[in-house]
Amino acid sequence: MSTLRPFATPVFTLLASFLLLASSSASGQTEMHSHPASVGLTKAIAVLMPTKGSAVRGTVTFESVEHGIRVRADIYGLTPGRHGFHIHEYGDCSSDDGSSAGGHFNPGGMSHGAPGVEERHAGDMGNIEADKDGHATLDYVDHVMTFTGDRSILGHAVIVHEKEDDLKTQPTGNAGARVACGVIGIAKAK
Ligand code: CU
Ligand code: ZN
Repeated sequence: MSTLRPFATPVFTLLASFLLLASSSASGQTEMHSHPASVGLTKAIAVLMPTKGSAVRGTVTFESVEHGIRVRADIYGLTPGRHGFHIHEYGDCSSDDGSSAGGHFNPGGMSHGAPGVEERHAGDMGNIEADKDGHATLDYVDHVMTFTGDRSILGHAVIVHEKEDDLKTQPTGNAGARVACGVIGIAKAK
């Protein structure tokens, strides 16, 4: 018994330093995992697919710029004219009519409005306007939506509507049925 005594201290020290090392690397890992996936994100994309009976499809990209997020849309298969264009609450395009995406994305508890005003849903992107061939493009910088925090658009869904958003009827803009839906995901940054 007494012959083991001289070894007891160094073994214990070694064990203690190993445990210390293990716990510090474990806490380092925990810290890494506590950051949301959106940290450092500079570009996101929604690929829009038609709802039942619709032929509307396209892409919408969201890119970090100095004073907000640049939104660019390229959408086909529309009827000529204006169509309501929003980010909706849930990243769920599973239902035939797009209703599974819920209402407008509204983390601030605001009223429905236009993208350029203060009182608006974070998801209010106004309208896209299709030409005679049913093609619409949009390019503007949004100052409300973000990639981090409670206004992060990641994981929500873009919806294109059948009719024009009048930018005042609550809480939908009276834009009618949903003709395309796409979930906003992480895009490859260039
Ligand atoms: Cu909508
Ligand atoms: Zn709205």
